[in-house]
Amino acid sequence: MPLTTTKQLFAKALKGKYAIGAFNVNNMELVQAIAEACEEEKSPLILQISKGARQYANPVYLKKLIEAAVSLTNIPIAVHLDHGDSFELCKDCIDEGFTSVMIDASHEPFEKNVEICRKVVEYAHKHDCVVEGELGKLVGAQFDAGEAGGAHSAKGVYTDPDDAVRFVKESGVDSLAVAIGNSHGAYKFKGSQKLDLDRLRAIKKALMDAGLGDYPLVLHGASSVPSEIVAEINKYGGKIIDAAGVPEEDIAEARRNGVVKVNIDTDLRLALTSGIRKVFAEKPQEFDPRKYLGPARQKVKELVKHKVHDVLGCAGHAFD
Ligand code: G3H
Ligand code: 13P
Ligand code: ZN
Repeated sequence: MPLTTTKQLFAKALKGKYAIGAFNVNNMELVQAIAEACEEEKSPLILQISKGARQYANPVYLKKLIEAAVSLTNIPIAVHLDHGDSFELCKDCIDEGFTSVMIDASHEPFEKNVEICRKVVEYAHKHDCVVEGELGKLVGAQFDAGEAGGAHSAKGVYTDPDDAVRFVKESGVDSLAVAIGNSHGAYKFKGSQKLDLDRLRAIKKALMDAGLGDYPLVLHGASSVPSEIVAEINKYGGKIIDAAGVPEEDIAEARRNGVVKVNIDTDLRLALTSGIRKVFAEKPQEFDPRKYLGPARQKVKELVKHKVHDVLGCAGHAFD
């Protein structure tokens, strides 16, 4: 099956009220684990590649790994640039055959964000590529004192529903990443762990009321940082203290309210690390990489199967 576009995947996901996992990949074991898990669960899949992944693995290696996943599985797979930070990077990825790119100019003022996104949209749409933009700032919102669910904080800014409408109309992006209390990494919350789901519903409604239809929304920073995986890492010599992720119920509720793409990277990193640490701790004499990367890959596969089946609801939807 050839690479698919996220536009096709999103239309079906919106109808079925499920979300598609956008899993970050940096190496062969991650690609294999994710692709095999989604194949077994008959789930559509978005493999996403960050600028850092391209620097780490080399774009050609990643492209070939994804080609291998596409040819060895029978599920729809889209390949997406995660957090593209310039027109040039987006253009490179579009020219290499990515079916979707994110242009992340969310740190810029509104008008500048629109302008950068428009430029990417113009080029991408000529090449059948889908564009994700972002409005709001994810960083550290929940860490600022007195800002539980507030619209603004010292570092983070939640997405405003009316601004979201203006942004989508003016930029022409095909999907929108929102800031509703989500953030990247393993330390997302201090105190209560929750997304501002009322804000998500308000964004969705504003887009609908403005004539933009059942508009696809994206949730970054959607790792749930499973406590049992963190405990296993720490049991085998790790030191991950006060980690906290997004509750899986909140992710499930988000996808029932228009979120069609759920970005997961940290949970994959944690699963892989727990597998490696376990072998290193239990078999310190082991030095064959296959003996620790193999079990670690299996942990990632189990995690992805759980996500698509129990959280995202996309298992069984490969052939909608
Ligand atoms: O949101 C960022 C992703 O987790 C990718 O992280 O830039 O370290 O590859 P990275
Ligand atoms: P996590 O750090 O929660 O996995 O988020 C990943 C992400 O948003 C990639 O763009
Ligand atoms: Zn992200």
